Amino acid sequence: MTSEELGLCNIEDLRQIARKRLPRPIFEYIDGAAEDGIALRNNREVYRSLNLKNRVLRDVSRRSTATEIFGRKIAMPFAISPTASAGLMCDGGEVALARAAARMGVPCTVATNSLTPMEEIVEAAGGNLWFQLYMWVDKELRMAFVERIKAAGFDTLLVTVDGSVGANREHDRKSGYAMPLRYTPKLIARVLANPGWCLRVLAPQYLKRGPFRKANYPAEFSSKLTDKPTDHELTKPDTQCWDDIKRIRDIWPGHMLVKGLQSWEDVVLAADNGMDGVVLSNHGGRYLDSAPAPLQVVPEVRRAVGDRLKIIIDSGARRGADIVKAIAMGADMVMSGRPTLYGAAAAGEDGAYRALEVFQTEMNRVMAQLGLNRIEDISPHVFWNPPDWVPRPKDARVVEQIDLPTR
Ligand code: FNR
Ligand code: LAC
Repeated sequence: MTSEELGLCNIEDLRQIARKRLPRPIFEYIDGAAEDGIALRNNREVYRSLNLKNRVLRDVSRRSTATEIFGRKIAMPFAISPTASAGLMCDGGEVALARAAARMGVPCTVATNSLTPMEEIVEAAGGNLWFQLYMWVDKELRMAFVERIKAAGFDTLLVTVDGSVGANREHDRKSGYAMPLRYTPKLIARVLANPGWCLRVLAPQYLKRGPFRKANYPAEFSSKLTDKPTDHELTKPDTQCWDDIKRIRDIWPGHMLVKGLQSWEDVVLAADNGMDGVVLSNHGGRYLDSAPAPLQVVPEVRRAVGDRLKIIIDSGARRGADIVKAIAMGADMVMSGRPTLYGAAAAGEDGAYRALEVFQTEMNRVMAQLGLNRIEDISPHVFWNPPDWVPRPKDARVVEQIDLPTR
Protein backbone atom coordinates (compact mmCIF):
# COMPACT_ATOMS: atom_id res chain seq x y z
CA MET A 1 0.00 0.00 0.00
CA THR A 2 1.29 3.48 -0.76
CA SER A 3 1.70 5.93 2.07
CA GLU A 4 -1.13 8.00 0.56
CA GLU A 5 -3.42 4.98 0.73
CA LEU A 6 -2.33 4.53 4.34
CA GLY A 7 -3.80 7.96 5.03
CA LEU A 8 -0.49 9.80 5.40
CA CYS A 9 -1.81 13.13 4.19
CA ASN A 10 0.75 15.59 5.46
CA ILE A 11 4.15 16.05 7.09
CA GLU A 12 2.65 15.92 10.59
CA ASP A 13 1.20 12.47 9.81
CA LEU A 14 4.67 11.27 8.81
CA ARG A 15 6.08 12.79 12.00
CA GLN A 16 3.62 10.88 14.14
CA ILE A 17 4.56 7.57 12.47
CA ALA A 18 8.26 8.42 12.89
CA ARG A 19 7.65 9.05 16.58
CA LYS A 20 6.35 5.50 16.96
CA ARG A 21 8.96 3.81 14.81
CA LEU A 22 12.10 5.40 16.26
CA PRO A 23 13.62 4.87 19.71
CA ARG A 24 12.65 7.88 21.81
CA PRO A 25 16.16 9.41 22.12
CA ILE A 26 16.60 9.28 18.34
CA PHE A 27 13.19 10.81 17.67
CA GLU A 28 13.91 13.55 20.19
CA TYR A 29 17.30 14.19 18.58
CA ILE A 30 15.77 14.83 15.16
CA ASP A 31 12.59 16.51 16.34
CA GLY A 32 14.03 18.60 19.14
CA ALA A 33 15.83 21.90 19.28
CA ALA A 34 18.08 24.03 21.48
CA GLU A 35 17.15 25.28 24.95
CA ASP A 36 13.51 26.39 25.21
CA GLY A 37 12.54 25.71 21.59
CA ILE A 38 11.78 29.41 20.94
CA ALA A 39 13.31 29.45 17.45
CA LEU A 40 11.74 26.08 16.63
CA ARG A 41 8.24 27.38 17.43
CA ASN A 42 8.83 30.78 15.85
CA ASN A 43 9.93 29.12 12.58
CA ARG A 44 6.43 27.63 12.31
CA GLU A 45 4.52 30.56 13.75
CA VAL A 46 5.95 33.03 11.25
CA TYR A 47 4.90 30.85 8.31
CA ARG A 48 1.45 30.33 9.84
CA SER A 49 0.92 34.01 10.60
CA LEU A 50 0.98 35.08 6.94
CA ASN A 51 -2.33 35.01 5.06
CA LEU A 52 -2.59 34.49 1.31
CA LYS A 53 -5.25 36.10 -0.91
CA ASN A 54 -6.97 33.88 -3.42
CA ARG A 55 -7.65 35.03 -6.98
CA VAL A 56 -10.43 33.56 -9.05
CA LEU A 57 -11.53 33.13 -12.67
CA ARG A 58 -8.02 32.97 -14.03
CA ASP A 59 -6.90 30.16 -16.31
CA VAL A 60 -4.42 28.23 -14.18
CA SER A 61 -4.63 25.00 -16.15
CA ARG A 62 -1.02 25.29 -17.35
CA ARG A 63 0.49 25.91 -13.93
CA SER A 64 3.77 24.34 -12.89
CA THR A 65 5.92 24.29 -9.78
CA ALA A 66 9.00 23.55 -11.90
CA THR A 67 11.93 25.95 -11.98
CA GLU A 68 15.71 25.80 -12.17
CA ILE A 69 18.68 26.47 -9.94
CA PHE A 70 22.36 26.60 -10.88
CA GLY A 71 21.50 25.67 -14.45
CA ARG A 72 19.54 22.52 -13.61
CA LYS A 73 15.80 21.99 -13.86
CA ILE A 74 14.03 21.06 -10.64
CA ALA A 75 10.46 19.95 -9.98
CA MET A 76 9.84 22.70 -7.42
CA PRO A 77 11.96 25.31 -5.65
CA PHE A 78 12.83 22.90 -2.85
CA ALA A 79 15.83 20.80 -1.77
CA ILE A 80 16.56 18.41 1.07
CA SER A 81 18.77 19.98 3.77
CA PRO A 82 21.77 18.02 5.06
CA THR A 83 21.07 15.94 8.16
CA ALA A 84 23.63 13.93 10.06
CA SER A 85 21.33 11.19 11.23
CA ALA A 86 19.49 10.08 8.12
CA GLY A 87 21.13 6.66 8.36
CA LEU A 88 19.31 6.04 11.65
CA MET A 89 15.85 6.55 10.14
CA CYS A 90 15.81 3.37 8.06
CA ASP A 91 18.29 0.89 6.64
CA GLY A 92 20.53 2.87 4.25
CA GLY A 93 18.71 6.09 5.17
CA GLU A 94 20.93 8.47 3.22
CA VAL A 95 20.46 6.51 0.02
CA ALA A 96 16.70 6.49 0.65
CA LEU A 97 16.66 10.31 0.87
CA ALA A 98 18.82 10.73 -2.21
CA ARG A 99 16.72 8.30 -4.26
CA ALA A 100 13.50 9.96 -3.20
CA ALA A 101 14.92 13.34 -4.24
CA ALA A 102 16.09 11.96 -7.60
CA ARG A 103 12.60 10.50 -8.21
CA MET A 104 10.98 13.85 -7.46
CA GLY A 105 13.60 15.84 -9.36
CA VAL A 106 14.89 18.04 -6.53
CA PRO A 107 18.39 18.38 -5.03
CA CYS A 108 19.39 16.41 -1.95
CA THR A 109 22.30 17.51 0.23
CA VAL A 110 24.64 14.81 1.53
CA ALA A 111 26.02 15.63 4.99
CA THR A 112 29.69 15.39 5.99
CA ASN A 113 28.44 13.41 8.98
CA SER A 114 26.41 10.93 6.95
CA LEU A 115 26.59 7.27 7.91
CA THR A 116 26.98 6.13 4.29
CA PRO A 117 30.08 7.10 2.26
CA MET A 118 29.41 9.88 -0.23
CA GLU A 119 30.63 7.76 -3.16
CA GLU A 120 28.11 5.03 -2.32
CA ILE A 121 25.25 7.53 -2.25
CA VAL A 122 26.27 8.96 -5.62
CA GLU A 123 26.43 5.49 -7.11
CA ALA A 124 23.18 4.20 -5.59
CA ALA A 125 21.03 7.26 -6.15
CA GLY A 126 22.51 9.69 -8.65
CA GLY A 127 20.34 12.72 -9.24
CA ASN A 128 21.08 16.30 -8.28
CA LEU A 129 23.25 15.79 -5.19
CA TRP A 130 24.81 18.64 -3.24
CA PHE A 131 27.44 18.18 -0.53
CA GLN A 132 27.45 19.82 2.91
CA LEU A 133 30.88 20.45 4.39
CA TYR A 134 32.01 20.82 7.97
CA MET A 135 35.58 22.10 7.66
CA TRP A 136 38.28 20.05 9.41
CA VAL A 137 40.68 22.13 11.46
CA ASP A 138 43.65 20.40 9.76
CA LYS A 139 43.94 22.44 6.57
CA GLU A 140 45.67 19.72 4.52
CA LEU A 141 43.00 17.17 5.39
CA ARG A 142 40.36 19.80 4.69
CA MET A 143 41.65 20.49 1.20
CA ALA A 144 42.08 16.76 0.48
CA PHE A 145 38.47 16.24 1.59
CA VAL A 146 37.26 18.96 -0.78
CA GLU A 147 39.17 17.23 -3.60
CA ARG A 148 37.45 13.97 -2.66
CA ILE A 149 34.02 15.63 -2.86
CA LYS A 150 34.92 16.97 -6.29
CA ALA A 151 36.15 13.56 -7.47
CA ALA A 152 32.94 11.92 -6.24
CA GLY A 153 31.09 14.07 -8.77
CA PHE A 154 29.39 16.77 -6.66
CA ASP A 155 29.13 20.18 -8.28
CA THR A 156 27.47 22.16 -5.49
CA LEU A 157 29.18 22.61 -2.15
CA LEU A 158 27.44 24.05 0.87
CA VAL A 159 29.64 24.94 3.85
CA THR A 160 27.84 25.02 7.18
CA VAL A 161 29.11 27.84 9.38
CA ASP A 162 26.61 28.33 12.20
CA GLY A 163 28.03 25.88 14.74
CA SER A 164 30.92 27.93 16.14
CA VAL A 165 30.30 26.26 19.50
CA GLY A 166 28.27 23.18 20.30
CA ALA A 167 24.52 23.42 20.61
CA ASN A 168 22.78 23.46 23.96
CA ARG A 169 20.27 20.64 23.41
CA GLU A 170 19.17 19.72 26.88
CA HIS A 171 16.82 16.97 25.72
CA ASP A 172 19.78 15.10 24.19
CA ARG A 173 21.78 15.40 27.40
CA LYS A 174 18.84 14.06 29.37
CA SER A 175 18.05 11.21 26.98
CA GLY A 176 21.69 10.15 26.76
CA TYR A 177 21.84 10.89 23.03
CA ALA A 178 24.90 13.16 23.01
CA MET A 179 28.06 12.79 20.94
CA PRO A 180 30.26 10.90 21.46
CA LEU A 181 27.59 8.35 22.18
CA ARG A 182 27.85 6.51 25.51
CA TYR A 183 26.06 3.22 25.87
CA THR A 184 24.52 4.02 29.22
CA PRO A 185 21.96 1.58 30.68
CA LYS A 186 19.30 4.25 30.13
CA LEU A 187 20.12 4.67 26.44
CA ILE A 188 20.33 0.91 25.87
CA ALA A 189 17.01 0.35 27.62
CA ARG A 190 15.35 3.05 25.50
CA VAL A 191 16.71 1.63 22.26
CA LEU A 192 15.72 -1.93 23.18
CA ALA A 193 12.26 -0.66 24.07
CA ASN A 194 11.81 -0.33 20.31
CA PRO A 195 12.55 -3.84 19.00
CA GLY A 196 11.03 -2.94 15.61
CA TRP A 197 13.76 -0.34 15.02
CA CYS A 198 16.45 -2.78 16.25
CA LEU A 199 15.27 -5.33 13.67
CA ARG A 200 14.68 -2.90 10.81
CA VAL A 201 17.68 -0.61 11.20
CA LEU A 202 20.23 -1.72 13.79
CA ALA A 203 20.49 -5.42 12.85
CA PRO A 204 20.93 -4.91 9.08
CA GLN A 205 23.48 -2.19 9.80
CA TYR A 206 25.60 -4.49 11.98
CA LEU A 207 25.26 -7.42 9.59
CA LYS A 208 26.10 -5.46 6.44
CA ARG A 209 28.39 -2.69 7.64
CA GLY A 210 29.29 -3.08 11.32
CA PRO A 211 28.77 -0.30 13.87
CA PHE A 212 27.37 3.05 12.73
CA ARG A 213 30.21 5.25 11.52
CA LYS A 214 30.55 8.73 10.20
CA ALA A 215 31.40 7.19 6.91
CA ASN A 216 32.95 10.22 5.21
CA TYR A 217 35.56 10.87 7.85
CA PRO A 218 39.14 10.71 6.55
CA ALA A 219 40.96 7.52 7.55
CA GLU A 220 43.06 9.60 9.97
CA PHE A 221 40.02 10.10 12.20
CA SER A 222 38.27 7.38 14.10
CA SER A 223 34.64 7.66 13.24
CA LYS A 224 32.36 5.43 15.29
CA LEU A 225 29.54 7.39 16.90
CA THR A 226 30.99 6.26 20.22
CA ASP A 227 34.48 7.57 19.49
CA LYS A 228 36.28 10.55 20.90
CA PRO A 229 37.30 13.21 19.96
CA THR A 230 34.15 15.12 19.26
CA ASP A 231 33.34 16.74 15.94
CA HIS A 232 34.01 20.12 17.46
CA GLU A 233 37.60 19.17 18.23
CA LEU A 234 38.07 17.97 14.65
CA THR A 235 36.50 21.02 13.07
CA LYS A 236 37.23 23.68 15.75
CA PRO A 237 34.59 25.95 14.24
CA ASP A 238 35.24 28.78 16.70
CA THR A 239 38.49 29.52 14.83
CA GLN A 240 36.96 29.62 11.37
CA CYS A 241 36.58 32.80 9.35
CA TRP A 242 36.08 34.09 5.81
CA ASP A 243 39.70 33.28 4.90
CA ASP A 244 38.86 29.58 5.27
CA ILE A 245 35.94 30.02 2.90
CA LYS A 246 38.11 31.94 0.44
CA ARG A 247 40.69 29.13 0.33
CA ILE A 248 38.02 26.59 -0.52
CA ARG A 249 36.50 28.96 -3.08
CA ASP A 250 39.92 29.04 -4.77
CA ILE A 251 39.93 25.29 -5.37
CA TRP A 252 36.20 24.55 -5.76
CA PRO A 253 35.17 24.94 -9.40
CA GLY A 254 31.44 24.38 -8.89
CA HIS A 255 28.70 26.31 -7.13
CA MET A 256 29.46 27.21 -3.56
CA LEU A 257 27.18 28.35 -0.75
CA VAL A 258 27.46 29.04 2.96
CA LYS A 259 24.69 27.81 5.24
CA GLY A 260 23.60 29.08 8.62
CA LEU A 261 23.54 32.85 8.11
CA GLN A 262 20.95 35.19 9.61
CA SER A 263 22.40 38.68 9.12
CA TRP A 264 22.33 40.72 5.93
CA GLU A 265 25.85 41.91 6.83
CA ASP A 266 27.13 38.33 6.57
CA VAL A 267 25.30 37.77 3.30
CA VAL A 268 27.02 40.82 1.81
CA LEU A 269 30.34 39.28 2.90
CA ALA A 270 29.31 35.97 1.32
CA ALA A 271 28.71 37.77 -1.98
CA ASP A 272 32.03 39.64 -1.63
CA ASN A 273 33.77 36.30 -1.05
CA GLY A 274 32.47 34.83 -4.29
CA MET A 275 29.63 32.68 -3.01
CA ASP A 276 26.94 31.67 -5.48
CA GLY A 277 24.34 31.50 -2.75
CA VAL A 278 23.55 31.42 0.94
CA VAL A 279 21.24 29.28 2.99
CA LEU A 280 19.59 31.53 5.58
CA SER A 281 18.98 29.07 8.37
CA ASN A 282 18.70 28.82 12.13
CA HIS A 283 19.48 25.11 11.78
CA GLY A 284 15.84 24.28 12.47
CA GLY A 285 16.08 26.03 15.85
CA ARG A 286 18.91 23.74 16.89
CA TYR A 287 21.57 26.36 17.73
CA LEU A 288 20.73 29.96 18.67
CA ASP A 289 17.39 29.73 20.44
CA SER A 290 16.57 33.43 20.10
CA ALA A 291 17.27 33.50 16.37
CA PRO A 292 14.65 35.00 14.06
CA ALA A 293 12.95 32.74 11.55
CA PRO A 294 14.91 32.85 8.27
CA LEU A 295 11.67 33.83 6.52
CA GLN A 296 11.68 37.07 8.53
CA VAL A 297 15.12 38.13 7.37
CA VAL A 298 14.71 37.40 3.65
CA PRO A 299 13.44 40.92 2.77
CA GLU A 300 16.32 42.80 4.43
CA VAL A 301 18.84 40.35 2.96
CA ARG A 302 17.35 40.77 -0.52
CA ARG A 303 17.48 44.56 -0.14
CA ALA A 304 21.16 44.33 0.85
CA VAL A 305 22.41 42.02 -1.92
CA GLY A 306 19.84 42.22 -4.70
CA ASP A 307 20.47 39.44 -7.20
CA ARG A 308 24.19 39.03 -6.51
CA LEU A 309 23.60 35.50 -5.18
CA LYS A 310 20.87 32.94 -4.61
CA ILE A 311 18.97 33.30 -1.36
CA ILE A 312 17.79 29.95 -0.07
CA ILE A 313 16.07 29.50 3.28
CA ASP A 314 15.42 26.55 5.54
CA SER A 315 13.93 25.99 9.03
CA GLY A 316 10.26 25.35 9.59
CA ALA A 317 8.74 24.67 6.16
CA ARG A 318 6.07 21.98 6.52
CA ARG A 319 3.48 22.87 3.86
CA GLY A 320 3.51 23.64 0.15
CA ALA A 321 2.02 27.02 1.08
CA ASP A 322 5.21 27.73 3.04
CA ILE A 323 7.28 27.40 -0.13
CA VAL A 324 4.95 29.86 -1.88
CA LYS A 325 5.29 32.30 1.05
CA ALA A 326 9.09 32.05 1.02
CA ILE A 327 9.30 32.69 -2.72
CA ALA A 328 6.86 35.60 -2.40
CA MET A 329 9.07 37.01 0.34
CA GLY A 330 12.00 37.06 -2.09
CA ALA A 331 13.73 33.70 -1.54
CA ASP A 332 14.89 31.67 -4.54
CA MET A 333 14.35 28.29 -2.94
CA VAL A 334 13.39 26.51 0.28
CA MET A 335 15.18 23.62 1.95
CA SER A 336 14.02 21.46 4.81
CA GLY A 337 15.58 18.75 6.96
CA ARG A 338 13.10 17.04 9.25
CA PRO A 339 10.16 16.32 6.91
CA THR A 340 12.04 13.81 4.75
CA LEU A 341 13.65 12.32 7.88
CA TYR A 342 10.15 11.70 9.28
CA GLY A 343 9.21 10.19 5.94
CA ALA A 344 12.27 7.92 5.82
CA ALA A 345 11.60 6.75 9.39
CA ALA A 346 7.94 6.11 8.55
CA ALA A 347 8.45 4.18 5.30
CA GLY A 348 12.04 4.33 3.95
CA GLU A 349 12.52 5.75 0.46
CA ASP A 350 8.77 5.75 -0.23
CA GLY A 351 8.13 7.70 2.96
CA ALA A 352 10.77 10.29 2.07
CA TYR A 353 9.25 10.53 -1.40
CA ARG A 354 5.82 10.96 0.19
CA ALA A 355 7.13 13.98 2.12
CA LEU A 356 8.35 15.54 -1.14
CA GLU A 357 5.08 14.68 -2.87
CA VAL A 358 3.13 16.38 -0.07
CA PHE A 359 5.17 19.58 -0.52
CA GLN A 360 4.76 19.47 -4.28
CA THR A 361 1.03 18.71 -4.47
CA GLU A 362 0.25 21.27 -1.78
CA MET A 363 2.33 23.90 -3.55
CA ASN A 364 0.66 23.15 -6.86
CA ARG A 365 -2.80 23.44 -5.29
CA VAL A 366 -1.99 26.73 -3.55
CA MET A 367 -0.61 28.22 -6.78
CA ALA A 368 -3.94 27.44 -8.46
CA GLN A 369 -5.87 28.99 -5.59
CA LEU A 370 -3.77 32.15 -5.90
CA GLY A 371 -4.26 32.29 -9.67
CA LEU A 372 -0.59 31.67 -10.46
CA ASN A 373 0.86 29.62 -13.30
CA ARG A 374 4.61 30.01 -12.87
CA ILE A 375 7.15 30.37 -10.07
CA GLU A 376 8.12 33.77 -11.56
CA ASP A 377 4.54 34.94 -10.94
CA ILE A 378 4.86 34.49 -7.17
CA SER A 379 5.40 37.90 -5.58
CA PRO A 380 4.42 39.91 -2.47
CA HIS A 381 1.01 40.48 -4.11
CA VAL A 382 -0.05 37.14 -2.67
CA PHE A 383 -0.04 38.36 0.95
CA TRP A 384 -3.16 39.72 2.60
CA ASN A 385 -2.53 42.54 5.06
CA PRO A 386 1.10 41.59 5.72
CA PRO A 387 3.17 42.87 8.66
CA ASP A 388 5.49 45.78 7.93
CA TRP A 389 8.64 43.68 7.43
CA VAL A 390 7.12 42.08 4.33
CA PRO A 391 8.16 43.78 1.07
CA ARG A 392 5.46 45.86 -0.63
CA PRO A 393 4.38 44.80 -4.12
CA LYS A 394 6.16 47.01 -6.66
CA ASP A 395 2.98 48.33 -8.26
CA ALA A 396 0.88 48.37 -5.11
CA ARG A 397 -2.21 50.48 -5.57
CA VAL A 398 -3.93 52.10 -2.65
CA VAL A 399 -7.37 50.64 -2.31
CA GLU A 400 -9.77 53.55 -2.04
CA GLN A 401 -12.03 53.64 0.93
CA ILE A 402 -15.34 52.44 -0.49
CA ASP A 403 -18.52 53.92 0.94
CA LEU A 404 -20.77 51.09 1.93
CA PRO A 405 -24.32 51.53 0.71
CA THR A 406 -26.68 52.64 3.44
CA ARG A 407 -30.00 50.93 3.87
C1 FNR B 1 20.38 18.90 10.93
N1 FNR B 1 20.98 19.98 10.29
C2 FNR B 1 22.26 19.88 9.82
N2 FNR B 1 22.80 20.89 9.08
C3 FNR B 1 24.04 20.79 8.59
O1 FNR B 1 24.49 21.71 7.93
N3 FNR B 1 24.77 19.66 8.81
C4 FNR B 1 24.30 18.60 9.52
O2 FNR B 1 25.00 17.60 9.69
C5 FNR B 1 23.00 18.71 10.06
N4 FNR B 1 22.46 17.70 10.79
C6 FNR B 1 21.15 17.76 11.18
C7 FNR B 1 20.57 16.66 11.82
C8 FNR B 1 19.22 16.70 12.16
C9 FNR B 1 18.61 15.52 12.80
C10 FNR B 1 18.45 17.85 11.88
C11 FNR B 1 16.99 17.90 12.20
C12 FNR B 1 19.02 18.93 11.28
C13 FNR B 1 20.18 21.19 10.00
C14 FNR B 1 19.43 21.05 8.68
O3 FNR B 1 20.31 21.06 7.60
C15 FNR B 1 18.42 22.17 8.47
O4 FNR B 1 19.07 23.41 8.64
C16 FNR B 1 17.24 22.10 9.43
O5 FNR B 1 16.77 20.78 9.52
C17 FNR B 1 16.14 23.01 8.91
O6 FNR B 1 15.01 22.98 9.72
P1 FNR B 1 13.71 22.07 9.42
O7 FNR B 1 13.46 22.10 7.95
O8 FNR B 1 14.06 20.70 9.91
O9 FNR B 1 12.68 22.72 10.23
C1 LAC C 1 22.72 18.75 14.13
C2 LAC C 1 24.16 18.84 13.63
C3 LAC C 1 24.74 17.54 13.27
O1 LAC C 1 21.94 19.68 13.91
O2 LAC C 1 24.32 19.75 12.60
O3 LAC C 1 22.40 17.78 14.81
